Amino acid sequence: MDPAPDTIAIIGAGVMGCGIAAMALGQGSDVLLVDIHDEALTQAPARITKQVRHGRLMEAFPASLSPGRLTTSSSHEDAAGAGAVIEAITEDAARKADVLARVCASLAPGTPLISNTSGIPIAELARSVRRPAEFAGVHFMNPTYLIAMVEVIRGAQTSAATIDAIVALLARLGRKPTVVNDAPGFVTSRLLHPMINEAARMVAAGTADADSVDALMRGCLGHPTGPLRTADLIGIDNLVDALRALAERTGNAGYAPCELLVEKVRRNELGQKTGRGFYDYRKVLS
Ligand code: NAI
Repeated sequence: MDPAPDTIAIIGAGVMGCGIAAMALGQGSDVLLVDIHDEALTQAPARITKQVRHGRLMEAFPASLSPGRLTTSSSHEDAAGAGAVIEAITEDAARKADVLARVCASLAPGTPLISNTSGIPIAELARSVRRPAEFAGVHFMNPTYLIAMVEVIRGAQTSAATIDAIVALLARLGRKPTVVNDAPGFVTSRLLHPMINEAARMVAAGTADADSVDALMRGCLGHPTGPLRTADLIGIDNLVDALRALAERTGNAGYAPCELLVEKVRRNELGQKTGRGFYDYRKVLS
């Protein structure tokens, strides 16, 4: 398979991969979606269509979802001819390093290679890529169709030309990029994830229930949904991985996920994606 040079290749067809694909398709780009799990690729078109509908992307760009605009593959190497590659697989540094190494081995020089990690330092992932000057982080927010602001992470070796190319690409996709320097958790996760951890600790200690914590954060502090509803949206498994990574990479054990979050992962109460987290979504899903 040889995608057209203006195709955006997205590796990982989960919550974020499908969200980014919906946004890119909605804005007129062709998309190649790669995942190692057939099930994820089979489910992707329906997930993307749902996001396109939620975000009203179709009304804005009526011709954008014609057949052939979205292709899928289980081979990382198929991303080789794309104009930009966005890695959005599971938040696991070793897996991401492996995927990035495979993809960049066949990528044409000058092609921006992007990771949608929510907190693994770009410098760490850059060790596995052939041209670290052409590699950067772009932390898309969830849901992508709703939140236009994205955090662009400049690694120590990322070139100014790569940042310019990524900022231009994001502008074409209707995003509002803000560029920051590399650090564990960057800016947004470094602030949001510990806040969610604290909120969960308060629920576990009986200080307040989830509804009350969220109501106070919305009503008094202007948070859009409250931290625990946000946890359900992000996926509690993702959150636990991200907090562990933050604790490890900062050397601050206080960032480690609290027992309630870990217990929720054990019970498969991962949030919206499994129908239950801090809140119950099963009625909505059925
Ligand atoms: P997810 O669990 O919904 O999807 C991950 C996808 O990656 C799955 O479909 C899985 O089959 C695929 N995958 C795993 N290993 C792979 C490999 N070696 N090659 C190809 N595909 C592979 O995860 P989600 O939530 O979409 O997160 C993806 C990334 O985006 C993570 O780095 C996460 O931290 C980040 N992120 C997540 C946000 C959220 O709210 N969920 C927000 C912003 C960033």
